[in-house]
Amino acid sequence: MWLLIGSGIILFFGFMAFTGAPYVPSKRRDVRQALSDLYRLDKKDTLVDIGAGDGIVLREASQRGARAVGYEINPIIAWIAMWLSRKDPRVTVKIGNFWRESLPDSTTVVYTFGDDRDIKKMYAKVEREATRLQRTLVFISYGFAVKGVVAKRQLGAYFRYDITPLQGKDCTV
Ligand SMILES: C[S@@+](CC[C@H](N)C(=O)[O-])C[C@H]1O[C@@H](n2cnc3c(N)ncnc32)[C@H](O)[C@@H]1O
Repeated sequence: MWLLIGSGIILFFGFMAFTGAPYVPSKRRDVRQALSDLYRLDKKDTLVDIGAGDGIVLREASQRGARAVGYEINPIIAWIAMWLSRKDPRVTVKIGNFWRESLPDSTTVVYTFGDDRDIKKMYAKVEREATRLQRTLVFISYGFAVKGVVAKRQLGAYFRYDITPLQGKDCTV
């Protein structure tokens, strides 16, 4: 019985790894540095974490007074994030595939700890959302640079991009 349950869980997480970055949490010390030195997050902000994991980034954002919304495709990890964040009214965790979601209209910062194969696609998605919202969005990537785009700033393993709305013929929103 336990072997069956264990195999099921391993298969489930294995399948999830194919849908995007596998679950590995950001280091808390790094997150704290990013949200103060790379971008000074405060109560005027809404931070969205693409692939929220256990919600560590969301709770750090909330501690700075920001609203924080995370999308997590793996329901088991999402439930853990909800449980760990249950006393934090500024944190929302949504179970779902980020690629099918629009960002909340109040979004100011998008955080991701993604993977190399998806980072360019994520940048393009955030760019479309910046165009829809008609304002600049700060995009913070942990561990992966966007190839062909110059970062506004780099701090440790973080890359910060300020993504402006597309103009004219580049705009397909
Ligand atoms: C490397 S972890 C990062 C977790 C958290 N953001 C952090 O920094 O601690 C990536 C997470 O993204 C989730 N994920 C992968 N693809 C996704 C998708 N298409 N939509 C939502 N979540 C996704 C994974 O399940 C995993 O928990």
